[in-house]
Amino acid sequence: MHLVIINGPNLNLLGKREPGIYGSSSFESFLDQLKTKYPQIRFDYFQSNIEGELVDALQQYGFEAAGIILNPAAYTHTSVAIGDAIAAINTPVVEVHISNVHAREEFRKISHVSAKAAGSIIGLGLKGYELAVNYFLDQKK
Ligand code: DQA
Repeated sequence: MHLVIINGPNLNLLGKREPGIYGSSSFESFLDQLKTKYPQIRFDYFQSNIEGELVDALQQYGFEAAGIILNPAAYTHTSVAIGDAIAAINTPVVEVHISNVHAREEFRKISHVSAKAAGSIIGLGLKGYELAVNYFLDQKK
């Protein structure tokens, strides 16, 4: 099974960035654990701080991968283009947010992604990515 994880802006700083909100693990070390735990899955990982590059990645993987796990970070709240890209592709997308965006500032309550995604996992830390992996694994059965 081929799954793709796409992370948006500032998520390259996980582990260093506001650890009280986002935790102290880097995404790379978390991904290594995920790869070890699920050797049957081929993971691709893409991170960008640039909106159009996230749209390009969705288009690139969105007609061949079995699933996409997407944390668009701040673009969640602003990007019509990312929402449109999810609607345009065939591969189902699970939206993940590490923090509970509904318990934070008002502007974080708006998502241009949720309505286009298969579902959303919010506020459960990095565990949310693994829950999304398990969702795709269950879909295959
Ligand atoms: C985030 C929540 C967003 O509001 C924020 O801009 C991020 C990360 C999360 O994973 O909790 O950068 O998507």
